[in-house]
Amino acid sequence: MTQTPRRTSGSTAMDDYLEQILHLIKEKGYARAVDISQKLNISQASVTNMLQRLDGEGLVNHVKYRGTVLTDEGHRIAQAITERHETLTHFLRLFGIDEETIYKDVEGMEHHVSRPTLDVIRAVAAALEADPALLQRVKNEAAATQRGLL
Ligand code: CO
Repeated sequence: MTQTPRRTSGSTAMDDYLEQILHLIKEKGYARAVDISQKLNISQASVTNMLQRLDGEGLVNHVKYRGTVLTDEGHRIAQAITERHETLTHFLRLFGIDEETIYKDVEGMEHHVSRPTLDVIRAVAAALEADPALLQRVKNEAAATQRGLL
């Protein structure tokens, strides 16, 4: 029986932490509670609690003088979320949506989008990139809809 690797921790909050920890590790080589607290705009006490929870779930380890590191399982989940984040961001950027809206939308969508849907989004993005006239038509259509709503 093939076991599909877990793609989320089962908790949106834990997913967000894992995503941010991976981001910090890539950026600085380590993830400290103070940095996570700043990035997620959450108190350091809450971050410490969550890190203990993630540790209990076997998703992170605390390494003295180095901070938080991801276990293999934690890393796999963080990678899957990051991949979804990047695919969705890439897709939405095609349409000239403002960056703040894209970020907010992606942060919500990345927790819920399934593999088949993500594959479709990636294929649609590629098809639109290969056909600028079609992309322009889609953008015009969306702009017309938005004008209608205002
Ligand atoms: Co994200």
